[in-house]
Amino acid sequence: MSRAAAAKAAPEGGLISVAIPKGRLLGEASLLFERALGVSPKRLLENTRKLAADSPEHGLRFISIRAADVASYVEHGAADVGVAGLDVLREEPRDLYEPLDLGIGRCQVIVGRPRNARPLPRGVAPRVATKYVNLAARHFARKGIPAEIIPLHGSIEVAPSLGLADLIVDITETGETLRANGLVVEETVLEVSARLIVNRVALKLHAERLRRLVEALRSVAEA
Ligand code: PRP
Repeated sequence: MSRAAAAKAAPEGGLISVAIPKGRLLGEASLLFERALGVSPKRLLENTRKLAADSPEHGLRFISIRAADVASYVEHGAADVGVAGLDVLREEPRDLYEPLDLGIGRCQVIVGRPRNARPLPRGVAPRVATKYVNLAARHFARKGIPAEIIPLHGSIEVAPSLGLADLIVDITETGETLRANGLVVEETVLEVSARLIVNRVALKLHAERLRRLVEALRSVAEA
């Protein structure tokens, strides 16, 4: 489409920008948009190095964002809408509207421990390796256990076997990474799925268009 034609097709008020997560959520999130609106953000974004791709006929601009950063972009209005996992949203609560459970990206945040670990002596604080420092701290505080939280950015499951931690708090989906590292689930901290998130100002500015977007996604998410 030519630039002039695109400008003509773009709805009044400009394009609604949608932060689409890279990584494990990309495929499922993209499929939802494709089913709901007939546009695949994955395919659009594959064809550009710009990390942003427009679909003027749908009134949307898709932006490719790291999953952990989507909520930040939407809270600050750099994107109007986004797709973010409940793990990220509960780890760092933000001032956002969460109108829809998209039912994708299902996994759990769990406490994991080595399969053959002996219980720690009473009164000894477990060392807990995690990238979910707030979720982990809240979980152990609720249980009255004085845990020592060890913040990491990845490869969490290897920490116990290397002596860095007694326990981990991390997400698990298939359980394969836990098994491969000799870990078992001790308890579940949070059941996770991806949510549609919306910037609060955008919700007022584009009320009708966002309502239609939410409803279109809801009808496929609930199908
Ligand atoms: C997550 C998580 C586990 C793994 C669990 O990592 O941290 O390592 O997936 O999945 P499984 O139960 O299906 O084996 P991810 O691949 O998202 O990468 P990251 O560690 O870089 O966040």
